[in-house]
Amino acid sequence: MSGTDNPYQDDHGNHDASLGNPKGMGTIDATAKSGETHPAPDEPFLIGANMTGGYGKNGPDILHDCTIAVEKGEVAVIVGPNGAGKSTAMKATFGMLNLRKGHVTLDGTDITALTPQARVQNGMGFVPQTSNIFTSMTVEENLEMGAFIRTDDYTDTMEQVYELFPILRDKRNQPAGELSGGQRQQVAVGRALMTQPKVLLLDEPTAGVSPIVMDELFDRIIEVARSGISILMVEQNAKQALEIADKGYVLVQGANAHTGTGQSLLADPEVRKSFLGG
Ligand SMILES: Nc1ncnc2c1ncn2[C@@H]1O[C@H](COP(=O)(O)OP(=O)(O)OP(=O)(O)O)[C@@H](O)[C@H]1O
Ligand SMILES: [Mg+2]
Repeated sequence: MSGTDNPYQDDHGNHDASLGNPKGMGTIDATAKSGETHPAPDEPFLIGANMTGGYGKNGPDILHDCTIAVEKGEVAVIVGPNGAGKSTAMKATFGMLNLRKGHVTLDGTDITALTPQARVQNGMGFVPQTSNIFTSMTVEENLEMGAFIRTDDYTDTMEQVYELFPILRDKRNQPAGELSGGQRQQVAVGRALMTQPKVLLLDEPTAGVSPIVMDELFDRIIEVARSGISILMVEQNAKQALEIADKGYVLVQGANAHTGTGQSLLADPEVRKSFLGG
């Protein structure tokens, strides 16, 4: 896909479009597949569609016909009560669950059969809800670990991560475990950016941080999206997250309860009453 014929590919005024990787590693690599892939036109950039499944081989279904998606360069937010299956939906999209039904499509290619590793090679980055950094390693070593699949020179990407999160440059030789909660989340996001993903899955990137740090993280996440990287994130700060969301999903008991633009969900009386505290 060239940068000129895709309306989603404009840089929205962001001058650091290099993070968006128009011609870097995020190209679908048919040789990296762990199963069959099939073309799937006319779908969002990334979609986990009609996903049904649970953990293990015979575990009960956690997801029930659940669909989550994000368009190129946009921010999609998943909210919902504890245990609703938000993390499970993210893991399913990343290939960590055996789906009984449904499919996952990335940039027009059905990747349902790919392993998580192959999905990273095809342009997905994932920051899990917990254990998302190596605490005993330095900040810089964490970023180097993030670049594990790269065989080319990743110094420029590391420089971009340091420009996005300047505090990480200052602390690059400190063990990541010594950093504050917000700084650790920056390490986790920075680590995922090291593969130059086309789409980033973030599971509660602002968990446990102060409102000011949350705002700051959201600003950085918007900056990443403006560089052309799609963001699909789970957030417990539902109101604030929907305010910056192009698209929002409310999940309840593993199923889609409400879907719409961030603004339409914020204005929906039922969503406000049940999920946003009125
Ligand atoms: N590894 C696992 N094995 C079996 N069941 C699991 C596993 N992880 C989660 N579950 C179950 O799946 C359901 C959904 O959990 P999930 O973590 O996806 O919810 P969530 O919406 O992310 O919740 P939270 O807001 O607390 O992060 C829960 O009933 C949970 O007990
Ligand atoms: Mg979760």
